[in-house]
Amino acid sequence: MRFLSQTLARVKPSPTIAITGRAQELTAEGRDVITLSAGEPDFDTPEHIREAAKAAIDAGRTRYTAVDGIPELKRAVCEKFARENGLDYEPAQVSIGTGGKQILYNALMATLNPGDEVIIPAPYWVSYPDMVLLAGGTPVIVAASMQDGYRIAPDQLEAAITPRTKWVILNSPSNPSGAGYGADHMRALTEVLMRHPQVWVLTDDIYEHLVFDDFRFVTPAQIEPGLKGRTLTMNGVSKAYAMTGWRIGYGAGPVELIRAMAKLQSQSTSNPCSISQYAALAALTGSQDYIATSRAAFQRRRDLVVAALNACPGISCPVPQGAFYVYPSIRELIGRTSAGGTVIADDEAFATALLNETGVAVVFGAAFGLSPHFRFSYAASDEVLADACARIRRFCEGMR
Ligand SMILES: Cc1ncc(COP(=O)(O)O)c(C=O)c1O
Repeated sequence: MRFLSQTLARVKPSPTIAITGRAQELTAEGRDVITLSAGEPDFDTPEHIREAAKAAIDAGRTRYTAVDGIPELKRAVCEKFARENGLDYEPAQVSIGTGGKQILYNALMATLNPGDEVIIPAPYWVSYPDMVLLAGGTPVIVAASMQDGYRIAPDQLEAAITPRTKWVILNSPSNPSGAGYGADHMRALTEVLMRHPQVWVLTDDIYEHLVFDDFRFVTPAQIEPGLKGRTLTMNGVSKAYAMTGWRIGYGAGPVELIRAMAKLQSQSTSNPCSISQYAALAALTGSQDYIATSRAAFQRRRDLVVAALNACPGISCPVPQGAFYVYPSIRELIGRTSAGGTVIADDEAFATALLNETGVAVVFGAAFGLSPHFRFSYAASDEVLADACARIRRFCEGMR
């Protein structure tokens, strides 16, 4: 349609829409569908956070706020970075946005010019490449393999950097793979970045608190303080405190960047929801008990799901360090035919046949830039997960 902008034409429609749409159709037909494509905790927001929001409403905190966040929340974010990450930021270096997503979007929109390259390791969160394209930049995809734990190697990063590289986006633990970069892996990447002063680091730490076993979360500016002056450390309350619908995320970085992001935000959303900002303040400053409870629940579910999927013929599922996703390989199933007669030509065919024949909705790997895999979100009850895994197993056993 000629009325629409050329900017929009650069962006692909969401590759997950087909699966979601089909899942909705099947549900409407009365089929028993299990949706494992969601990217959010299935728990309620903790009570003290909900109460803080109600109190904010009753206290009349219902008006516009400062563009990039109320001062109390900015201070709480600084305390969080000092307490949990050993990072020293001041409020002027902090931006509060409508979700971590708006922080990323603002940062890319505020900095990218045509021809600027942004390095994105694959498998990646679906929004990164499209945000880069919307901002007029060029995504440069660097594929990590399952054998390498879905982590890119330093020489891969080095090879992808050009004089036009503006940002590298790092996301640990990762959506969709759950892979985490521990201190050693992170240091290997920061050493490369220290040799390329034109490259800025956009680190998406949204799954920081969902880490398992003895994995210790680290963030680039903490590992290499020399990068802090060109790093935007992004985080948020969505995944850590089951607050996806409240839409509060934050980022910290050099003042000049933060000011540019605020300029953009002032002409788009004005400010993040006032009530949600008070809720986020309670999340960051109140009891942190929820974090340990949810971490234990997700670790138990991860173990259940990894064991069950590895028992499915043709599926190979590594053990992730964090988040609430697994990203198994279906390489051995490519070329086979399902009991319902679908040739599994690629991971999209696998996900479509799995949904049609068993009612389990997962997202195919091509959506995240690395095939042949699928993403399975285990943010669901143990019973639902066991049912889903049993259906996947029957589906795999029925392959010819
Ligand atoms: C890797 C990653 N980054 C950022 C976000 C956005 O989170 P928020 O709810 O803070 O916008 C998500 C949400 O799914 C995510 O998976």
